[in-house]
Amino acid sequence: MKALNIVILAAGKGTRMYSDKPKVLHSLAGKPLIQHVLDCALSLRPQQICTVYGHGGEAVPQAMQQYDAKFVIQEPQLGTGHAVQQAMPLLQDDSRTLILYGDVPLIQHSTLHQMQKAGEGLVLLSVNLENPAGYGRIVRDSEGDVQRIVEQKDATPEELQIQEVNTGIMLVPTAQLREWLGKLSNDNAQGEYYLTDIVEMAVGQGVTVHSVQPAQAWEVDGINNKMQLANLERVWQKEVAARLLTQGVTLIDPARIDVRGNLMCGRDAEIDVGCIFEGQVSLGDRVKVGAYSIIRNASIAQDTQIAPYSHIDSSEVGANCHIGPYARLRPGSKLHDHAHVGNFVEIKNSEIGQGSKANHLSYIGDSTVGCRVNIGAGTITCNYDGANKFRTIIEDDAFIGSDTQLVAPVTVGKGATIGAGSTITKDTPAGELTLSRSRQLTIAGWQRPVKGKK
Ligand code: UD1
Ligand code: MG
Repeated sequence: MKALNIVILAAGKGTRMYSDKPKVLHSLAGKPLIQHVLDCALSLRPQQICTVYGHGGEAVPQAMQQYDAKFVIQEPQLGTGHAVQQAMPLLQDDSRTLILYGDVPLIQHSTLHQMQKAGEGLVLLSVNLENPAGYGRIVRDSEGDVQRIVEQKDATPEELQIQEVNTGIMLVPTAQLREWLGKLSNDNAQGEYYLTDIVEMAVGQGVTVHSVQPAQAWEVDGINNKMQLANLERVWQKEVAARLLTQGVTLIDPARIDVRGNLMCGRDAEIDVGCIFEGQVSLGDRVKVGAYSIIRNASIAQDTQIAPYSHIDSSEVGANCHIGPYARLRPGSKLHDHAHVGNFVEIKNSEIGQGSKANHLSYIGDSTVGCRVNIGAGTITCNYDGANKFRTIIEDDAFIGSDTQLVAPVTVGKGATIGAGSTITKDTPAGELTLSRSRQLTIAGWQRPVKGKK
């Protein structure tokens, strides 16, 4: 098979988004539209990808810097044919060029692969629509062979009856594409250089025109406004939920889950309503995620239970842990097996050893907590002096009394006990009770002040 070049058209203005942001940088499932297209394009292992941008200036190439793709500007924007022309200097004649749209985000690898297999010549991706208004129509002859594409604004009343429309996505032999683009004129209703006019040229030269239909209609849905964006987001989330259910994941309500990335689930994982998963998330066997939890870039090992309203970000959670409700694991947290982190507990950049518990109202930052440690309610690590961060080390089997402040850098020794209400500024010895608080006093006969009469 000939090498594959890919051109992504993304210069359009996106006027109907009513936004200062270029249309293709708006997000679907947590990822800019153009990034969906780039990821799909890369999955075809092309020789090169060339993105045509325009509206919004350098914002598009800047946002997509991480991609091994080339960017060419189209200024002014004189139509889809003119847009592809901008990419031609970069394309190799001895290849096939696949044209994709930056605002048609959900096109799938399998459909594009079908196009590649359809044969030499020109391959169109078409779709039959109940309501074809606005699209270019595929005109076929009596044998059913494609003759040309006519745009809505140039079509006769009979042609407007055609329900098979051009999705815009096509695969073209590059040398011929170059030749045909050179012959385009803008003598049409919109005064634009139509890419679609190359179809009639191909037919005129005896080049076969194949057509392929997408496996699912939503793959070719384009985004022009926020309503279409919101609708396609729902379509995609429904699709993701269906895939999870098919794999055996329990979703209490498949209409109330949002996956903005990749979610991998073990056997008998269960997810309650309103949860959001971002980036790469893996849930082990029998993990339960409570309602309205937000989990981003995290792995949760088997049998762990996450109670409602918990936030977990860039953290690793072991097996058989209990988290939440209302717990927050910030980046760099690692919980070993059987750890418990309860309500209103915030953990940041810390390791919590096996079987250790911080069940209520705590902040544990930049800390290493050993095994079987009990951290009393209201305990806080004072890890920051306004300029520098310091570590707190709590060794195995320590018991930290409630409302303790551990002023880092500080180490609580193995098996040490800290009396409630202490402010600990120096290392505490293993196995001993340490406390720092003034002795309780009672002042006999003391009277409360009274308000003076005005
Ligand atoms: C185009 C097709 C039409 C098809 C429809 C599918 C042509 C002439 N018509 O129509 O047959 O049914 O798409 O949605 O090709 N773009 C540029 N530079 C430009 C113009 C457009 O990069 O100068 C990009 C846009 O950003 C967009 C894509 O090309 O991603 C399509 O442009 P759009 O104006 O939406 O094309 P339509 O007129 O709708
Ligand atoms: Mg248009």
